Amino acid sequence: MSDKAVAFAQENGERFVEELKDLLRIPSVSTDPERVGDVRKAAEFVAEGLRKAGLENVRLIETSTAERKGHPLVYGDWLKAPGKPTVLCYGHYDVQPAEPLDEWKSPPFEPTERNGNLYARGAVDDKGQMWMHVKALESLMSSTGSLPVNVKVLVEGEEEVGGEGIEAFVREHGDVLKADAALVSDTEMFAPDLPTLCVGLRGMIYTELEVRGAMVDLHSGMYGGAAPNPFVALAQIIAKLKREDGHIAIPGFYDGIEEPTKAELDAWRALPFEEEHYRKTEVGSPELVGEPMFSVLERTWSRPTMDVHGMPGGFTGAGAKTVIPAKALAKISFRLVPGMKPAETFAKYKSFVEQICPRGVSCEVRMIHSGEPIVVSTDNDYIAAAAEAMKAVWGKETVYVRGGGSIPIVGDFVRELGIPTVLMGFGLPDDNLHAPNEKFHLANFHRGTESIIRFFERLGA
Ligand code: BES
Ligand code: MN
Ligand code: MN
Repeated sequence: MSDKAVAFAQENGERFVEELKDLLRIPSVSTDPERVGDVRKAAEFVAEGLRKAGLENVRLIETSTAERKGHPLVYGDWLKAPGKPTVLCYGHYDVQPAEPLDEWKSPPFEPTERNGNLYARGAVDDKGQMWMHVKALESLMSSTGSLPVNVKVLVEGEEEVGGEGIEAFVREHGDVLKADAALVSDTEMFAPDLPTLCVGLRGMIYTELEVRGAMVDLHSGMYGGAAPNPFVALAQIIAKLKREDGHIAIPGFYDGIEEPTKAELDAWRALPFEEEHYRKTEVGSPELVGEPMFSVLERTWSRPTMDVHGMPGGFTGAGAKTVIPAKALAKISFRLVPGMKPAETFAKYKSFVEQICPRGVSCEVRMIHSGEPIVVSTDNDYIAAAAEAMKAVWGKETVYVRGGGSIPIVGDFVRELGIPTVLMGFGLPDDNLHAPNEKFHLANFHRGTESIIRFFERLGA
């Protein structure tokens, strides 16, 4: 193993960051129909980056069908290392909406450096992390003329909206993606100085619950008292979904859940975690909530949960309007853990809502998207190489954690492609993913790139 590629990455680190800033200036918000053009621009930017890194067969793969308009996948490969393993590198170039805009200290799509951090929507989730893959490959190729392993790179533009397009592609063209292992950098480190591999992700179902009352909006003075209010009904339903102690009251919801092993729980207990520090610095609420008999790490990693994301409808403008809205909507999701199936959980939830739907209104539950939970096996050479690569860069033993978030396609890598998956992420707990002032700690961008280079080198050795 030579240090040429690492030296190249160090010498060119500033340029890598400047290029990343150009990518971050493209507002590729996948959920926003007005941003389709920008999403495509970001895809083209990534494709160009792959070409420049020396990858071959670089192309956009369309995911649109007659039924749906989808954002393109970006693909590239380099398969000239006979006898060496093939690694499938995955990331996403789409981002979450940046709102509320007035809470950003610098505009979300004008990347800005402050105190060693790069602030922008997508800085860490996932443009910055995906870019480390591209730059690690470029560093290896430019400094040595080849790669130590074969690679296939697949970058999607719909991760933040459920990843339907990539899912269809993996199911239909699994052969194109044939690889020995997958590398995903879209998770977090447990603490700034602690090299971390993520070995499990929660699944999810994302739903809309619509409640309808009167046939039109009504004057609340003239009809209040007799006409049903769908927001009140919605609140009553939501209040019945989750008890005050965090337990979800849907019958059969917890059936079949697989608990973490004793060894895993012991390892979690050994992690440097201080509940009060977490409450104060990351959450900032007067108290933490949830199931009292489970630790915070268990509550966020290995227990399912329910959250409400917004309740559009009715009057939300400035000032006051006395109206009884005809309908009310809530965006509600559930995080799932191993042993739970999205379709089964949805069916239980739907029938429970229908059963508790208050008098005077009708209730409809719709699935927006879903993804399965996963735990990856740690007993393989790829995880071992990743742990050693990270240890070499950070100088500390790598820890294993799970993530509470979801990356829908990872389940398919594990189940459809049947390959070991390495979740080597470089985010930090205070990176503000999905929130205002998202950032990427630049030291992690550089150390992460070095870790990825060393990972590939170890696999090829
Ligand atoms: N990168 C995150 C997932 C993540 C974050 C995993 C932190 C582990 C730790 C990903 O981009 C994400 O936000 N996924 C969505 C998925 C959903 C929209 C289908 C999520 O978890 O809400
Ligand atoms: Mn992500
Ligand atoms: Mn995300």
